[in-house]
Amino acid sequence: MKIAVASDHGGFELKEFVIRLLKDLGHEPLDLGCHSIEPVDYPDYAAAVARKVAGGEAERGILVCGTGLGMSITANRFRGIRATLVNDLYLARMSREHTDSNILVLGGRVTGKGLAEEIVRVWLKTAFAGNRHSRRLEKIACIEEDIPKSC
Ligand code: RB5
Repeated sequence: MKIAVASDHGGFELKEFVIRLLKDLGHEPLDLGCHSIEPVDYPDYAAAVARKVAGGEAERGILVCGTGLGMSITANRFRGIRATLVNDLYLARMSREHTDSNILVLGGRVTGKGLAEEIVRVWLKTAFAGNRHSRRLEKIACIEEDIPKSC
């Protein structure tokens, strides 16, 4: 699967780890930065991944900042993006089964590498459950229609 991945400085180390993991699992990560621990602004990186996923150039995305909060807020501004901040395995599963998450967000200062690996594995392999959850996602899409188009 082609997966767009990015972080800010707070998530850089975990992002590098996630990219290696995705390659080991046979996926095709697209590294959209950042490339060091030099401070950068997370909205630039969240937008880069959200655009790839919303535009269909990547099937899914993974974002990492210090807490995961700024990346989540930014990515969810984009049409068709369902970015979910996950820090345990229950949320990893539910984010896919119930909300068809297309961007996984991790907090590099919150979640250790061991747990992050399990979260990524579960998030990648869990399917959307559909049925009543589809109706709810359609309602989110309707709400999006009312928001004027921006960037
Ligand atoms: C950067 O210091 C930090 O604010 C950022 O990584 C993130 O946690 C924001 O939500």
